[in-house]
Amino acid sequence: MDKINAVITGIAGYVPEDILTNEDISKMVDTNDEWIMSRVGIKERRVLKKGLGLSCMGTKAANDLFAKTNTKPEEIEAVICATTTPDYTFPTAASMIACNTGCVNALTFDMQGACAGFLYALETVANYIRSGRYKKILVVAGDVMTSITDYTDRTTCPLFGDGCGAILVEPSHEDLGIMDVLLKTDGTGLEHLHMKGGGSVYRASYKTVDKHMHFVYQDGQYVFKHAVTLMADACIEIMKRSNLTSDDIDWVVPHQANRRIIDATAKRLDVDENKVLINIENRGNTSSGTIPLCLWENEDKLKKGDTLILTAFGAGFTWGAAYLKWAYDGKKA
Ligand SMILES: CC(C)(COP(=O)(O)OP(=O)(O)OC[C@H]1O[C@@H](n2cnc3c(N)ncnc32)[C@H](O)[C@@H]1OP(=O)(O)O)[C@@H](O)C(=O)NCCC(=O)NCCS
Repeated sequence: MDKINAVITGIAGYVPEDILTNEDISKMVDTNDEWIMSRVGIKERRVLKKGLGLSCMGTKAANDLFAKTNTKPEEIEAVICATTTPDYTFPTAASMIACNTGCVNALTFDMQGACAGFLYALETVANYIRSGRYKKILVVAGDVMTSITDYTDRTTCPLFGDGCGAILVEPSHEDLGIMDVLLKTDGTGLEHLHMKGGGSVYRASYKTVDKHMHFVYQDGQYVFKHAVTLMADACIEIMKRSNLTSDDIDWVVPHQANRRIIDATAKRLDVDENKVLINIENRGNTSSGTIPLCLWENEDKLKKGDTLILTAFGAGFTWGAAYLKWAYDGKKA
């Protein structure tokens, strides 16, 4: 029997309407547009209204995806949601998205790979499809990072935004799709990037709230150094094992955490800057959402057979790269 490949057959996304500019942030903390643009490369980010959760964004993205791919929700056999900021600790955001969109025949689960979450979801969905048992899977990846951002901490509050992407993944016997995914973990990263409170160690209490423990904590420089090195290392490793050179790459789609990390990664890969998809300036770091959002916003540029290298780095530390052969031409209406 021919090999079954797992192919992305459609992509959609959603960002909230409300915009938080650098000027807005400079009224909250001691910072300015010049510092944020030169050190991070973000001008503005989107913010989900309080009282709404990730499933609201995921539902909108999934409904658009079903419309543009003519998919009946009841055909979806699995809904996988990559996120660090689900609506609730339980139940899963995936179960809520499935309910809202009419995916009544799907198994559902959330998975968390922090900012590398979309790559983790790709590896998972690819193997479900390759097994031959699943024919239509919805993956939603995104975060409401503003819900865990401390707007009194100038070292982290300019970085994050809200948004999510959604992809439909189906089997194909064509030589296209999710060709390879490389994932790595180094748990010693814990102390450098995490949310201290609200888990089973520091249970939510007045004390954890007073100490701002329900927000992203990071040692920015330490994370920066590791992200710069390890994202490029992962790309080089996956390209080597797939016999790809820089000339073979049509698009690099890096996690959007810091413009300087993106530029350094592209430089090490020796890829022309025109081949690097970037939307950090208007979106900020949406964690699991950055790569699918970037793909969605650049869908019109992608052609059938294009070679894409995706890469991400996040809390854990978790990081990796994926090699895709894009399956269709341009934007699906
Ligand atoms: C957070 C980050 C932007 C900080 O940039 P940096 O160049 O490393 O800056 P530093 O932390 O060295 O700080 C330099 C100075 O700027 C100051 N600074 C920090 N944030 C500032 C802000 N928003 N506005 C103005 N000044 C700021 C610092 O206090 C420091 O001042 P000092 O020299 O007087 O002590 C950068 O480290 C980064 O992007 N790290 C990785 C983040 C990331 O990817 N996180 C998510 C992983 S998925």
